[in-house]
Amino acid sequence: MRASVARAERLPQIVLLSILLVAAVILASPAWAQESRNPVTAESPTGGQVPGNVLGSQADSDLWRAVREGVQGRVSIPDTQAGQLIQSEGDNWRAWRNGPVTVYGAWAMLGIVIVIALFFVLRGRIRIDAGPAGTTVERFNLIERTAHWITASSFIVLALTGLNMLYGRHVLLPILGPEIFSAITTAGKYAHNFLAFAFMVGLVMIFVLWVAHNIPNRLDLKWLAMGGGLFVKGVHPPAAKFNAGQKLIFWATILGGASISLSGLALLFPFEFAFFGATFEALNAIGFSLPTQLTMMQEMQLSQLWHGIVSLILIAIIVGHIYIGSVGMEGAFDAMGSGQVDTNWAREHHSIWAAKVGGNASSQAAE
Ligand code: HEM
Repeated sequence: MRASVARAERLPQIVLLSILLVAAVILASPAWAQESRNPVTAESPTGGQVPGNVLGSQADSDLWRAVREGVQGRVSIPDTQAGQLIQSEGDNWRAWRNGPVTVYGAWAMLGIVIVIALFFVLRGRIRIDAGPAGTTVERFNLIERTAHWITASSFIVLALTGLNMLYGRHVLLPILGPEIFSAITTAGKYAHNFLAFAFMVGLVMIFVLWVAHNIPNRLDLKWLAMGGGLFVKGVHPPAAKFNAGQKLIFWATILGGASISLSGLALLFPFEFAFFGATFEALNAIGFSLPTQLTMMQEMQLSQLWHGIVSLILIAIIVGHIYIGSVGMEGAFDAMGSGQVDTNWAREHHSIWAAKVGGNASSQAAE
């Protein structure tokens, strides 16, 4: 009886001790410790926890997903672009540059060479049908020829060094080896950077000198409908100073050249120009729905792709022009060489212009 009374008296102490023991076990448990550091948040049903707490760590997948998707954060250093840890568009840019631009560009180069070779085989050199007259007429004066050759010589170096940047490591590197290839490519890059300005000067000069002669008119449709007489011997549609084919070359050079120049400047002075956002905004006004909030990095990537694509197209066009202005047509090169063309050449290819400048006199001033 006395023993049971004594046990009853100790019951509160036993209960208290048990509670303390359970509490100590719970507090010491790692699961509890983890839970209290990472309380469940309102944003996510699991509060960012790995389901089941298997590893006992927080899953930062939301954070890293945002980083992967290019979320822009804030940084305290001057370069605000450092706030974007992963710039996913870089993958797209590289895929485009090393994929379609490189591949279709190569096809364009090969294509134009094949077309010219076929044209040469089927049509041969376009001769002066009446034969050289022996008298000449001035076609381009010294300023015009200087403008042409500043544009042409700089363009040729720009084209070759640019093609080296795109294809050199596939074509030249295996042949030349890394030392020679890297020396050539470094020199080529400097040439490319500086000659860009000569090209721009030439471009402005030929625009000012020749734009008045390159306004399209009804005669151009007739010239085009007759294929410029290029495919049939003895056929010569009438033309003034420039025929429709030359007008197309002129506008391709001016518009393509201006576009290459602007995108080239954006590449030469990184992160200084944002041409694409503004261009896309203008295009959206006429029905397009292009993104206008572009980061400076995206601007650079678009500039590079555009610069490459337009250059490849213009190179293909100019290869055709070089052919017809040299081996492809008898008497054509003289126009840009000495500036004097044979009178019969002038009558056959530019009858209206020849009549105006007096196709029967020698050395008339160019109009
Ligand atoms: C070795 C290279 C080149 C040669 C042999 C050449 C030859 C010629 C010739 C002979 C003409 C005058 C055609 C005529 O009398 O009607 C001409 C005009 C012209 N060239 Fe070139 N050229 C060359 C490179 C270039 C380049 C690289 C460009 C531009 C990037 C260019 C742009 C023009 C333009 C816009 C005209 C006036 C339009 C036309 O005649 O087609 N040329 N070229």
